[in-house]
Amino acid sequence: MKPIVVKLGGSTLGNHDTTLEDLVKLQKLGVPLIVVHGGAQVVSGWLAKLGVSTSFTNGLRVTDAQTLKVVAGVLAGLVNKELVVAIQALKGKAVGLCGADGNLLWATIKSPELGYVGKIVKVDPTLLRVLLESGYMPVIAPVSFGSVGDRVMLLNINGDAAAGEIAAALNADRLIFLTDVDGIYNDSGKMLSRINVADAKEMLAAGIASGGMVPKIEACLKALTTVPIARIINGKRPHALLNEMKNGAGGTTIAPE
Ligand SMILES: Nc1ncnc2c1ncn2[C@@H]1O[C@H](COP(=O)(O)OP(=O)(O)OP(=O)(O)O)[C@@H](O)[C@H]1O
Ligand SMILES: [Mg+2]
Repeated sequence: MKPIVVKLGGSTLGNHDTTLEDLVKLQKLGVPLIVVHGGAQVVSGWLAKLGVSTSFTNGLRVTDAQTLKVVAGVLAGLVNKELVVAIQALKGKAVGLCGADGNLLWATIKSPELGYVGKIVKVDPTLLRVLLESGYMPVIAPVSFGSVGDRVMLLNINGDAAAGEIAAALNADRLIFLTDVDGIYNDSGKMLSRINVADAKEMLAAGIASGGMVPKIEACLKALTTVPIARIINGKRPHALLNEMKNGAGGTTIAPE
């Protein structure tokens, strides 16, 4: 059975109670699941508490050495482990890891002005397969590793990109983004129920998708090289994931054609 990759938007964290219930329910039904999570708002909260200023360029956090430590600590530590604990509290089987574990996501510097932000260049899904075969749900924090000059170090990556790359590498059955809007909106504010690859590229070029929607659409384009369908749905709605698996109503579908 091909796995389903679910990107749990940080924007829905805290509203994810039914999402975790849904994940455990699907796991009990034998659906192989991989979860990739965000947590931008939690990271921003901790940066503020620590007095570190922060900024975004095209939805990506500019990451200096100090910011990187907070990003890794909060995402691969706190947010990741809280999710694992919450899934286990619901009697699910989960293992929390980040893109640096088991060689999962190797990256290079995306662009020098973003600092320690990685662009994923290689995915090794071996560990994910081992975990899925043993009945575990891998829960992945968007932190990877890669070489910077002559050092090999942690890098901050976008969760959407991580989900897209992992879905592509595993030939996933489906890639589902749970976020805080009903789907992708066009320039007149209408939600689009279905777009193809050409439409998606056009939306990016025209700037109709901006901020956090940009990496999501880019990740869908990457995944659609091997994955038949990507979905962007509102994770704040109760049982959004279970409803998605049952009838796939609502949200935006992105498909090759
Ligand atoms: N055309 C568009 N249609 C829908 N949303 C859009 C569009 N352009 C920009 N957005 C923004 O994208 C946001 C979703 O991305 P965002 O990065 O904020 O959430 P997330 O990825 O779910 O969370 P996180 O980044 O913490 O994991 C929406 O809240 C919306 O403001
Ligand atoms: Mg985002």
